[in-house]
Amino acid sequence: MTASEKGMGSQKGRRPQDSMAEMTIVMMPTDANLQGNVFGGTILNHVDLIAGLVAKRHAPYANVVTASIDRMIFVKPVYIGNALILTARINYVGRSSMEVEVTVEAEDLEKGTRVTTGTAFVTMVALDKNGKPVQVPALIVEGEEDRKRFEEGKSRMQARLEAAGRRT
Ligand SMILES: CC(C)(COP(=O)(O)OP(=O)(O)OC[C@H]1O[C@@H](n2cnc3c(N)ncnc32)[C@H](O)[C@@H]1OP(=O)(O)O)[C@@H](O)C(=O)NCCC(=O)NCCS
Repeated sequence: MTASEKGMGSQKGRRPQDSMAEMTIVMMPTDANLQGNVFGGTILNHVDLIAGLVAKRHAPYANVVTASIDRMIFVKPVYIGNALILTARINYVGRSSMEVEVTVEAEDLEKGTRVTTGTAFVTMVALDKNGKPVQVPALIVEGEEDRKRFEEGKSRMQARLEAAGRRT
């Protein structure tokens, strides 16, 4: 059995820095309504994509799927022609689940200004070849900030499982 088939849960862990990602996309007319405001669904699509990328980097042997996206509030508008900048990192891992925090910013390319438009917490779950949840590598948390993010992520995970009617 290869490492890919076994899963890497028993192997060495990975640091949040090993999987973090940034993605920049210029918003086009097809991304927006007639007034030029980018659709929330377009932004969520990119949030889901980058969360999947980060989860796949953390658990390369697995098929990673989205289990949940915590509430996302669009606090500032994004317009056609803005650069949408997404940054994503893992805060917490359970056995097969990974909490990925995605921050979304919009850059006005003419003015050179950047604003944060929202943050979302995406839970990705690693599946094996049979579609069963499989263990992911441990998350190596080194500094104070990583430890804080891990503990906060753990609390959020408990809260979201309770909200989903699942016992923790
Ligand atoms: C996510 C999914 C695999 C969970 O399956 P399950 O039968 O509940 O499996 P388990 O009970 O073993 O849970 C697996 C992990 O998912 C987590 N999980 C399950 N439901 C969750 C939810 N609503 N929110 C966050 N995490 C969740 C569990 O806590 C567990 O994490 P852990 O292994 O770190 O402890 C299953 O619901 C599924 O396949 N959903 C569809 C995923 C998908 O296709 N998404 C794309 C859009 S459709």
